[in-house]
Amino acid sequence: MATAAGDVLVTAAEDVRLKKGIAEFYDESSGMWEDIWGEHMHHGFYNTDDVVEISDHRSAQIRMVEQALLFASVPDDSVRKPRSIVDVGCGIGGSSRYLARKYGAECHGITLSPVQAERAQALAAAQGLADKQVSFQVADALEQPFPDGKFDLVWSMESGEHMPDKLKFVSELVRVAAPGATIIIVTWCHRDLSPTEKSLRPEEEKILNKICSSFYLPTWCSTADYVKLLESLSLQDIKSADWSSNVAPFWPAVIKTALSWKGITSLLRSGWKSIRGAMVMPLMIEGFKKDVIKFSIITCKKPE
Ligand SMILES: C[S@@+](CC[C@H](N)C(=O)[O-])C[C@H]1O[C@@H](n2cnc3c(N)ncnc32)[C@H](O)[C@@H]1O
Repeated sequence: MATAAGDVLVTAAEDVRLKKGIAEFYDESSGMWEDIWGEHMHHGFYNTDDVVEISDHRSAQIRMVEQALLFASVPDDSVRKPRSIVDVGCGIGGSSRYLARKYGAECHGITLSPVQAERAQALAAAQGLADKQVSFQVADALEQPFPDGKFDLVWSMESGEHMPDKLKFVSELVRVAAPGATIIIVTWCHRDLSPTEKSLRPEEEKILNKICSSFYLPTWCSTADYVKLLESLSLQDIKSADWSSNVAPFWPAVIKTALSWKGITSLLRSGWKSIRGAMVMPLMIEGFKKDVIKFSIITCKKPE
């Protein structure tokens, strides 16, 4: 809910239940996702007028990473490029390894899922990345195991929607950022409310609530809420964009693969949480079509 983005929206017991659900959901479903979609567990970025490109989903996922870096103006020259990166909500580490290789940087990924952390580390070793350069651990984004000011790039790709306390989430991103660091949040939001609205319409809430219970999400907030939070923390160069039309081909493609023979057998093998997740995928399409769901990027810099 827009006005409550900075509030603690769940009780301690709900918080524990939510995090347990998130960990189990990704423990259960990550192998299946990797099998079918590869190491990036996020939307692709599509230039929607290019039909050929739309079928190339793995390239579109890499393009999402590149577009985010471009949007945030992350420098790639040898003097100013990032050297120390945190990947908050790292999945099986697709972004971490990509960013570590691109910049020759150190990257630390955190996730709630032990299965993901272990798989991410195994993939790094298999790809010839040393433990010292790329490491993964189970840790909470809201209480990160890192000292203040450690990272010059703070990266959160599609994990913010899982965070029950957006103020704490953003504050932790800012705390671990070094002076002058870039912070990138790519996340699912609900539409911005008009000045006369206090909340979404009941039919819009209904769509989001159904998605929440199957994907282990707390209450959603809007892009404007994130911007307000960043402003309240005195961050600089705050920018945001709505990339909903650039991700439109993604969910239809995921549903198509879920309905293939391989998709159905993998889903059945993965378990009930994955099946429940698959069942709400059409609601993501409906939410985007009805303009209640937004795929947003929000970036800023920590003052020097
Ligand atoms: C959709 S996946 C995105 C994974 C990855 N960023 C990528 O793009 O491939 C969401 C990730 O957020 C992580 N996550 C959710 N809540 C978290 C929290 N409180 N602390 C750390 N990680 C969290 C999940 O464990 C999962 O790895």
